[in-house]
Amino acid sequence: ISLRPFVDPLPIPRVLQPLERCKDKTYYEVRMKEFFHQFHSQLPPTRVWGYEGQVPGPTIEVEEGECTQVLWINELPDKHFLPVDRTLHGSGHDMPEVRTVVHLHGASVEPESDGYPDAWYTNGFKKCGPRFSQKVYTYPNKQRPAMLWYHDHALGITRLNVYAGLAGLYIIRNEAERALNLPSGIYEIPLVIQDKSFNSDGSLFYPSTVDVQDPPPDFPDPSITPGFAGNTIIVNGKAWPYLEVEQRKYRFRVLNASNERFYRMKLDNGQPFIQIGSDGGLLQRPYTTDEIVIGPAERCDLVIDFSSQPAGTTITLLNTARTPFDFGAEPDPFTDGRIMQFRVIERTSEDTSTVPQFLSSIPRMDEFAATRTRDISFDVTTDRYNRFLFLLNNHDYMDGVTEDPVVGETEIWRLINPGLGVHPFHVHQIQFQVLDRIPFDTALYAQTGYIRYTGEPELPSPGERGWKDTIQAYPGYVTRLIMRFGPYTGRYVYHCHILEHEDHDMMRPFDVVARKC
Ligand code: C2O
Ligand code: CU
Repeated sequence: ISLRPFVDPLPIPRVLQPLERCKDKTYYEVRMKEFFHQFHSQLPPTRVWGYEGQVPGPTIEVEEGECTQVLWINELPDKHFLPVDRTLHGSGHDMPEVRTVVHLHGASVEPESDGYPDAWYTNGFKKCGPRFSQKVYTYPNKQRPAMLWYHDHALGITRLNVYAGLAGLYIIRNEAERALNLPSGIYEIPLVIQDKSFNSDGSLFYPSTVDVQDPPPDFPDPSITPGFAGNTIIVNGKAWPYLEVEQRKYRFRVLNASNERFYRMKLDNGQPFIQIGSDGGLLQRPYTTDEIVIGPAERCDLVIDFSSQPAGTTITLLNTARTPFDFGAEPDPFTDGRIMQFRVIERTSEDTSTVPQFLSSIPRMDEFAATRTRDISFDVTTDRYNRFLFLLNNHDYMDGVTEDPVVGETEIWRLINPGLGVHPFHVHQIQFQVLDRIPFDTALYAQTGYIRYTGEPELPSPGERGWKDTIQAYPGYVTRLIMRFGPYTGRYVYHCHILEHEDHDMMRPFDVVARKC
């Protein structure tokens, strides 16, 4: 089916109402269900899994410091409607086929509420994974205002559950941010960008096999692939939607919730974006740029000023990123090369919003305060079926913990990527800063494991100089991050956020440990 772009208006996910709000906590219940969702007016309704019957899920909005509790309820069927590969970590035949656990991406929470991949559970909590410990999750929201997102994180099937629709936004706000007078209310618009493919009957397509060299006779069916990108770009649950915008400034809070796809965003009229925030909240200062690259799980907070556009103008938000990023196929200008359209209409009232030159203070973390440097290498090898296998430090998920930072201490992590593609690297529990990226000799590294820098350190782009929880680890570069662990101790994970990599097997546990006295 070839879908006409820009026929459906952009939906805005509704804000979820709590069941209970008292002075020490706000309590929500969120149900995961199977239902049918129409991604485009030319498509029949598509079977999806979503939170509260919505794709994306409803937005949870909280105030900084407000303690929220959420009971995430699995009401899904026992059978998956996407192809489950039983050979992946935690996916064996002894495991229930459908299991879920919710991670609030970017949040500072205790391990018991973090949605650890082995803390999964099934419909009605009938079966629980080895690390399941509690039903109700607590989010203290003691962190800067930011747009986080919640999504499924069940071991071995995260890619399928998120692709099925299990993702939604979570926004933390505070007075200081409101006082900046950025565009707000109906002029602040979330954009959850994903990609899907559809079968001719309108059902979601997800590949069930992959071509490999000399497949062994017991090659798994279904099998995971090294990454999946759909040919249809979906924003807030609609394929190539349009949004009517008044001649004024808008704030767009963008999330890339795709499995594998990166987007290099650009407006077709050459107009710039003003980037004001990143994963962990506002930047120190706004930054004007024509292009922004957003990898899986990254967020960017943008202002676009439509005030000088004549009413009637249409502007297309384009994508020029190759997939896999950034060495694979060029996007097709008629499909994955475009994201959505803005249609400028007359202003209904004065635009009194502002974009202050100073947004928030970002104290730079001091490299010399770090007590430890750790290296994380991105390794590509093959598994016993000759399929690509992605590892971190040549360990798979089931290998024991090798990183055990001490609570309250600062560490530098060097992400060593000798490969071809960019991996979006995510660490749970904390927000970090990017020190720099340094090019290195990948051939020498492949032979000897020795890192010889071949150029000067490159500073992160201004859009990456705020707080981040997911970073693009460039091929041929050592990306240096600085982070302080805490305030909680316990078991978390770090991983690549290309979901097919995360499931196979680019994810590792780590422990934040108590200080020894
Ligand atoms: Cu957004 Cu561990 O994930
Ligand atoms: Cu990866």
